[in-house]
Amino acid sequence: MTHPTANPLAAFDLTGKTALVTGASRGLGRRFASTLAAAGADLVVTAREEKSLAAVVQEIESLGRRAVPLALDVTSRASIEGLAARIRSGLVVDILVNNAGCNVRKRALDLTWDDWNRVLDTNLRGAFFVAQAVVPGMLARGYGRVINIGSLTCVFGYAGIAAYCASRGGMKQLTMSLADDWGPEGVTVNCLAPGWFRTEQTAALYENAAWVEYLCDRLPLKRPGTIPELDGALLFLASSASSYVTGQTLLVDGGMSTGATRAMAVPNSSPNSRSVDNP
Ligand SMILES: NC(=O)c1ccc[n+]([C@@H]2O[C@H](COP(=O)([O-])OP(=O)(O)OC[C@H]3O[C@@H](n4cnc5c(N)ncnc54)[C@H](OP(=O)(O)O)[C@@H]3O)[C@@H](O)[C@H]2O)c1
Repeated sequence: MTHPTANPLAAFDLTGKTALVTGASRGLGRRFASTLAAAGADLVVTAREEKSLAAVVQEIESLGRRAVPLALDVTSRASIEGLAARIRSGLVVDILVNNAGCNVRKRALDLTWDDWNRVLDTNLRGAFFVAQAVVPGMLARGYGRVINIGSLTCVFGYAGIAAYCASRGGMKQLTMSLADDWGPEGVTVNCLAPGWFRTEQTAALYENAAWVEYLCDRLPLKRPGTIPELDGALLFLASSASSYVTGQTLLVDGGMSTGATRAMAVPNSSPNSRSVDNP
């Protein structure tokens, strides 16, 4: 890997690369696809229904990049096998963003067998088998970037989202295992773990003003993230700029993971220590 010293920013240039983003029809995935296109990549964008990808395709094409829409249900073996067949027949993917995900918010005792399977099958099994379908092409070319989209729950557990936390904890470990497996052949695998960003998946939470205040109090940066604030970490992990980084989970969380519950804060010692849950 050569690193341009005259212009270090050139390492972030994705011209000539093709990225595949799962769950690109809305939310973070749609932004990830557009950001990669803005950095020069062509895109394969996927969601369960091809028609839901029309807007993101238009966005990418307006940036002068190519966008191939593809129907892909990451919980369906047949659907993933269809993707694997496309890869075998010549679809080139240099960057994979495993973004498709879902959540079920219920107390643990109310979580059903089907809830558990839906979350784990989408978030964890789906990510693994999509990578298994796409990565052979990367290994054959000796270059690739896999970015698994995790969450703060890669490293913390919260009541009400047990299946989601289990899927994200698993994704952190999966990232390390795949990094070790595929590193020797030039493929890096990292996990980008967002904190709290407003999308369809989290919208209900933001309607609760008390919750937003509670959350912001626990964030060193005192506010939720805005979606473009994920761009820098995404481009770093997607490009040559991260050539010596693999197996890592990069939290983009406003610092929440520095001390999620502020358990050790001394009451009244600073303006930021208003809430002490467990002194
Ligand atoms: N928003 C946050 O604050 C936040 C924080 C941490 C992590 N995350 C993670 O980031 C990712 C994106 O989140 P988001 O907030 O943008 O969610 P979102 O708005 O609900 O979007 C989810 C995306 O995943 C796709 N998807 C869902 N099930 C699928 C399946 N079985 N097969 C293929 N695609 C499927 C959806 O596409 P279709 O419905 O069109 O198929 C959609 O494009 C998720 O993995 C989420 O867990 C989000």
